[in-house]
This record gives sequence, structure tokens and C-alpha cells, in this order.
Amino acid sequence: MKNIFSGIQPTGSVTLGNYIGAMRQFVDLQHDYHCYFCIVDQHAITMPQDRLELRKNIRSLAALYLAIGIDPNKATIFIQSEVPAHAQAGWIMQCISYIGELERMTQFKDKSSGREAVSSGLLTYPPLMAADILLYKTDVVPVGDDQKQHIELTRDLAERFNKKHGEIFTIPEIRTPEVGARIMSLQEPTKKMSKSDPNLKSFITLLDDPKQIEKKIKSAVTDSEGIVKYNVENKPGISNLISIYSIFTGESIDNLEKKYEGKGYGDFKSDLAKVVVDTIKPIQDRYYELIDSKELDDILDRGAEVANRDANKMIQKMMNAMGLGRKR
Ligand code: TYM
Repeated sequence: MKNIFSGIQPTGSVTLGNYIGAMRQFVDLQHDYHCYFCIVDQHAITMPQDRLELRKNIRSLAALYLAIGIDPNKATIFIQSEVPAHAQAGWIMQCISYIGELERMTQFKDKSSGREAVSSGLLTYPPLMAADILLYKTDVVPVGDDQKQHIELTRDLAERFNKKHGEIFTIPEIRTPEVGARIMSLQEPTKKMSKSDPNLKSFITLLDDPKQIEKKIKSAVTDSEGIVKYNVENKPGISNLISIYSIFTGESIDNLEKKYEGKGYGDFKSDLAKVVVDTIKPIQDRYYELIDSKELDDILDRGAEVANRDANKMIQKMMNAMGLGRKR
């Protein structure tokens, strides 16, 4: 079986963007791949975090991984900071990265622009991400569109390491969903939906209640034409909503356009709110069963054990290849 690795930052709640772009794929892939799904808390601290919030978000993300349907008997779910090999391998990958290539990452440019004090961790975030992936001989990394550049860098770093120190790493492939690789903000539909957006109406989270969801969808920015038609360039707002509707119901975009011919955005938005609520409701029910359970801790303990076992083998190989420490 081939290996899959992916991670999500425990910062704020999980958005529809995270769910559609990444997590929904995880559920399908777990049947055909050997999967590791990580809560990347060490990535989260590249930006300032409140201690109690971070702890809460880590647990919440773990419960959501399970609530959406990831089976802990099939996939390994674990917390990055509970597997020290990530930080060790991250350092090694930093040492083979060039500052220039890290400064060219668009996520670094976006997150650092306009800030006075930028942590060096924000710059060296991609080598840590490369370490996450390479530690598990990952063949495929399922992510949304915005991670493409980081995966390309991971491939470059793996090839660079292999060339210099011997063929240690598997070169991973990216996998993005055909539809929904980039879910857009509900308020500025030319920007991606992001949980760090200060405008709370711009994103829906998996834990929003039905009223909030309805409100956010009803106030989503569209255009003045009032025609439910998919056209990303000229009608990005309604096109984004049509994509979400189509992904959650399995109805084709063509069909949806026909179904809402002659009707305004009001009807479409009310129906979409219902579709989203119906999709999320069972996830939330399961989430609230799990969040304070011992079962969740047991799963994370087991996950950390498996991940430590596998990652330690690779870190030892990396150390031997580079001549670090003593031979084992
Ligand atoms: P993060 O936490 O920002 O996002 C988690 C996943 O959600 C996807 N995503 C989206 N997909 C579609 N539309 C959107 N609006 C949207 N917003 C987010 C992201 O592409 C991602 O797949 N660097 C990563 C975390 C990470 C990681 C890794 C991922 C750390 N190590 C190793 C894969 C492998 C990040 O910040 O994702």
C-alpha cells in the first residue's frame, strides 16, 4: 500500500475550505492508502497563539478528524509536537534549504507583509512541512490548491537531500480535488476562504450553528444580475456558492443552473444553507460525543505511538546518511 500524509493547523475552527479542499478527500483515501493525518501544532506557533486556545483547538481538530469519518483503525491520527522527530527532521531540512527559496514562498510573503516582527519560524515553516511529509515515505499528499508551492519545495528538498546523502526519501506527489481545491471567501470571492480572516462572515466553520450558517450564506457577496450561472471570472461569488452546493449534493453545475433558472439568489441561498446544515449536522453530533471522551485520548495516544515508531526509523536513516551522532 502507498503512503499518504497530510496536516491541518489547529488555529481557529475548521472551515468549509479545509473540509472541502482537504479533509473530505482523507475520508475516501483511507481505504486505499496507508494514511497519517496530523494536527500540526508546531506550524501553528509560527504565528502568536494563546496557550489555552491552542490546546482547545488541537483537541477540537482531533475530534473533527474522527467526526468527519476518519477511522482510527485505518489511519494514524496524531499531534505533531508529540512526535519529536518532526522538529529534528525539520532542523535538518532547514539546513539544506536556501533563504532565497523560502523568501519566495507566497504564503510567507502574505503572512509577513505589513508586520513589524516576523518570527523566523514563519520563514522556515516549509522545511518543517517537508520534514512532516518525508518522515513517512509519503507517496501522495492530499491538500488544497494553496499548498502547491510548499509541496513543490518539498520535492526539491527531497531530491537535493537524496543527491547529496543517498536515496533516502520518497518523492511525494500532490493531490488536489478536481472541484473545490480553492473555496473562496463569502465576502471577497476573489480571495480564498481562510479561518484567519478578521471578517467572520467570510467563512463558515464545521462547528457553526444553523442560524449562523444561514446568516453567512444569505449575506454572501454575489452580483447584481440575479442569475444563478457558473462563471468564475465574471461571477465569482455565485460560482463559489454553486461549487459548494454541487460538491455537497453531487448535483452537476449544469443541473443546478437549470434548477434555479428564473429564480433569484434568495431561493438559491436558502436552499444552499439547508444543504450545508444537513451536511454538517451529523459531523457536529459525532463531534460533541467525542470532544470530552477518553476514546479521543486513547486514539491520540495510539497515533503518537505509531507515528513515533515510524518517524524514528526515518530520522535515524537521515542522521546516518549525514553523519550525525553515532551509528546505530
Ligand atoms: P492549513 O491548516 O492552512 O489548511 C489545511 C488544508 O486545507 C486546505 N485549505 C483549503 N482548500 C480549499 N479551499 C480553501 N479556501 C482552503 N483553505 C485551506 C489547505 O490546502 C490544506 O490542505 N501548511 C499546511 C499544513 C501542513 C501540511 C503538512 C499539509 C503542515 N505540514 C504536511 C500537508 C502535508 C497548512 O497550513 O494548511
